[in-house]
Amino acid sequence: MAVGRGSFSSRFAAIMALAGSAIGLGNIWRFPYMVGQHGGAAFILLYVFFCVFLSLPVFFAEGILGKTSRLNPLGALRAKAPKWSWAGYMGILAAFVITSYYSVVGGWSLDYFIRSISRGFHGMTMEESAAVFHSITATSWEVLAVFVGFLGLTALIVLAGVEKGIGGFSKVMMPLLFVMMLLIVVRSLSLPGAGEGLNYLLKPDFSKIDGPAIASALGQSFFSLSLGVGCVLTYCSYMPEDENLFATGMWTALFDTIFALLAGFAVMPAVFSVSGLEPGAGPSLVFETLPVVFTKMGGIVPVVFFLAVLVAALTSSISMFEVVVAWLIDEKGMRRGRAVLLVFLAALALGAVCALAPKVFSACDFATSNIFMTLGALVFVIVIGWVVPKSEPFKEFSSSPSGARLFPVFWFLLKWICPIAIAAIAVTNLL
Ligand code: TRP
Repeated sequence: MAVGRGSFSSRFAAIMALAGSAIGLGNIWRFPYMVGQHGGAAFILLYVFFCVFLSLPVFFAEGILGKTSRLNPLGALRAKAPKWSWAGYMGILAAFVITSYYSVVGGWSLDYFIRSISRGFHGMTMEESAAVFHSITATSWEVLAVFVGFLGLTALIVLAGVEKGIGGFSKVMMPLLFVMMLLIVVRSLSLPGAGEGLNYLLKPDFSKIDGPAIASALGQSFFSLSLGVGCVLTYCSYMPEDENLFATGMWTALFDTIFALLAGFAVMPAVFSVSGLEPGAGPSLVFETLPVVFTKMGGIVPVVFFLAVLVAALTSSISMFEVVVAWLIDEKGMRRGRAVLLVFLAALALGAVCALAPKVFSACDFATSNIFMTLGALVFVIVIGWVVPKSEPFKEFSSSPSGARLFPVFWFLLKWICPIAIAAIAVTNLL
């Protein structure tokens, strides 16, 4: 093991870090509007189905690779299946690209958090709110400043190391994040008109389950569990040796799904309580619609909400940043400080371009979520399902009785269903 790799101090820290990686802008920002657009509860069912039958097996495959090799994505693949080590480079590159553009959106959340404290959007109308969002994203110095701020916070946490930085931050912030979200849900559900929002979120409309809905549910379940680029792999390489990977994975997926639903319950009733707002507004929902809603609620609600968005984004961005840092430490023998500085500077360059050029931003998003992540996931399942001896995954599952019992199901999904399904998605995405 490379010197200075570090490890999580406890099982709780490992679960909180993994949940922190999974729970992010994807849950708060994308999930609620996707549910709204694609048939409410029908979409939620589809999402849970994909989580259980495709994403969880991929999660385990990635986790097993990391936990048994105790290395970064490239080192792990090189040790277990040298022919596939190119996918390690691809994962690290993807993690780097996602860090860069995710930090741009992270910067917006930092901006809104600061504004919510200084009441910069008090009593706004929808038009004014849209103008604020537009001016943030169109004002070069502001969008760059908050991006650099967010990336800097990410780098500082990663710099503090696996145990104190990533583990320590997640252990404290994740429980706090749940409490903050619960407060907003309670406040949101007590608003007049909340029932309509719940109805919109929960009423199953199976007629809306079409090709795009299926693709979104699947893509969202991959993105939300942080799969395919080596985040899960890297974090699991820091897990205590005797740790129960099966239980950790189940808890992570459970927390992730519960949090996505909570975010939906926080956002939709609030949107419906203000008449004339568009629930299917898409990506602008969180940054344009919600400030209008929350200023009407007043008090500390906007501050708490945007702090929650910021914390959720940070615990995810550190997991991607750490993938690249782990590679530099393991493979290039760098010290953590130097590795963090290097990744910070490189992400600064790419992120700045993403912040100023929306086309580059979308291209980065498209390439990573449609191509790199799916190919990465495909390689992870092939390596565990077909290349390493079956005893390796079995050993990880058999450390818990329920894991041992479910192993045959997992094995069947991993060996047959996942590769075929993911290959089909990869081909569709590439066409
Ligand atoms: N899962 C996070 C979210 O929901 C984002 C994220 C973190 C991610 N690490 C990732 C997405 C790796 C894809 C790949 O916001």
